Amino acid sequence: MLFCAGEPPCRLLGRTGIWLRAEAPGELTLGEMKRCMAIIEDGGTVSLRTMKRDLPRSQMLAIARYRTEIVAVGAIKPVRKDHAAAIAAKSRYSFPADTPELGYVAIDAVHQGHGLSHKITRILLSRHTGQLFATTDSPRMKENSRGCRVLPRRKRMGR
Ligand SMILES: CC(C)(COP(=O)(O)OP(=O)(O)OC[C@H]1O[C@@H](n2cnc3c(N)ncnc32)[C@H](O)[C@@H]1OP(=O)(O)O)[C@@H](O)C(=O)NCCC(=O)NCCS
Repeated sequence: MLFCAGEPPCRLLGRTGIWLRAEAPGELTLGEMKRCMAIIEDGGTVSLRTMKRDLPRSQMLAIARYRTEIVAVGAIKPVRKDHAAAIAAKSRYSFPADTPELGYVAIDAVHQGHGLSHKITRILLSRHTGQLFATTDSPRMKENSRGCRVLPRRKRMGR
């Protein structure tokens, strides 16, 4: 793995030719933002209207590029106090309403199955200070705790 200058702003993942980088939404072109939205839309797990509103307002994005094409994305979303409070109530786990959510992790179909989602998540976590929360509807993901601090069953997120 190669690192560019600074606190790893971009990493070349082995010999895959994939570059991973934490970026502010404002660093993306309109075309790149639309590409991220298309990958997330293809993932099929989120409200499109909310995603199109919130992705450009994210606190931070993790972007993976193969050559010049974006192939994976993840985000630390903008704070949504009502949403966070609703998730805290639903999960019966107390956390501050100004806690940001990590989400919109989506990998282009061609590049799935190579651990990119772990790397996207890791770079977001490494660049963020403080707590985050995340939710999923996927039973498989709920059971997949590798590298995560999973809440006790009675306190897990309901989604
Ligand atoms: C789910 C997704 C992000 C996984 O990304 P990936 O880089 O291809 O993941 P990998 O195959 O390298 O596997 C990473 C982990 O995710 C798990 N995983 C892979 N596909 C999964 C799926 N469809 N549902 C749940 N978990 C999945 C794997 O079991 C693996 O866990 P492990 O490393 O502990 O064995 C990717 O398939 C995707 O973009 N799906 C569509 C969008 C989506 O579901 N986003 C998540 C919303 S919460």
